[in-house]
Amino acid sequence: SAAEKDGHDWFMRKEIFEQPRAVADSLLGRRSQSGLLQLDEMRLSDDEIRDIDKIIIIACGTSFYAGMVAKYAIEHWTRIPVEVELASEFRYRDPILDYSTLVVAISQSGETADTLQAIRHARTQRSKVLAICNTNGSTIPRESDAVIYTHAGPEIGVASTKGFLTQLVACYLLALYVAQVKGTRYGDEVDEVMAQLEAIPEQIETVLAGAQQIYDLAAEHVDTRSVLFLGRHAGYPVALEGALKLKELAYIHAEGFAAGELKHGPIALVEPGLPILCVVPPRGRDQLHEKMISGIQEVRARGARTICLAEEGDTKIEPYADVLIRLPRVPVLLQPLVATVPLQLFACELATVMGHDVDQPRNLAKSVTVE
Ligand code: G6P
Repeated sequence: SAAEKDGHDWFMRKEIFEQPRAVADSLLGRRSQSGLLQLDEMRLSDDEIRDIDKIIIIACGTSFYAGMVAKYAIEHWTRIPVEVELASEFRYRDPILDYSTLVVAISQSGETADTLQAIRHARTQRSKVLAICNTNGSTIPRESDAVIYTHAGPEIGVASTKGFLTQLVACYLLALYVAQVKGTRYGDEVDEVMAQLEAIPEQIETVLAGAQQIYDLAAEHVDTRSVLFLGRHAGYPVALEGALKLKELAYIHAEGFAAGELKHGPIALVEPGLPILCVVPPRGRDQLHEKMISGIQEVRARGARTICLAEEGDTKIEPYADVLIRLPRVPVLLQPLVATVPLQLFACELATVMGHDVDQPRNLAKSVTVE
């Protein structure tokens, strides 16, 4: 009923709008009096954490993209090498695992069969398994050595939204916690990053307040048969997630690419009028921003319609954006928390105007309990 959906038409839309709260709840109570990070359900000793020499993240679907973002954050803050692998591929390639490998399983439901089988395999190889999960007492956390629960509340829409954002939060917390225990220089920046994370819920509110712009944009695309998404760095998994949402909900052919890879193939797909959603990284010292802009120029020169998500104050993007969606200013590693939201709104609205059932997309299940 409408009441269950807080007046929204779909659970998915309700859940998109719950994200500020979900993110805030997932950050709550993570610090001790002295300001140190404290992850209650961690159950891994400091010695065990110091022994970790490799992290393998396994997940499926949207959770896999959270894992891709996590790789950027964990490697940057902890200097531990991270691999990210689809759960369904992991076990069958005879992965190299031992007691010093930490396997991180990300699963909203905690019941995905591929992910469960992957952690069972990891444990037979003596690896420690940490679950990032939104469902208390579900199978994956029960069979893991440690768990970080996300506090998104029940997610009903089949396509994950608040589940994804809170998985990102859990991954950042894990990265910072390991940095703190290992004493890398980023361990001293816990305060700063936590303050940036704590500002995110309000920044997501700002994005949500601009929903109408996205809805109008979606309405213009009812007859679109193909959409591309471009991103770089932590924006690359955001592009993949944006494309996945469109496939899942609007049944439109959509693909995400790493912007730097365009010239190695995908640019051949560009033809006049093709919509390309571009996740523009924040301006910084690392040239990511400039390189993204040159990629956008390339596709625009070939007639693509560029729909750019770029931070407030970024004027350099203006000449190359056919449509400009503003994002709050956040550091590049945290940008997925704000940049994903317009893409969720876009897919939800486009599917709605196309007349599809957003909460129950065809052929999909909320939790896939067969391999
Ligand atoms: C299904 C859902 C996706 C979800 C994936 C992984 O395919 O339709 O939305 O991302 O499973 O689910 P999990 O519960 O393991 O995160």
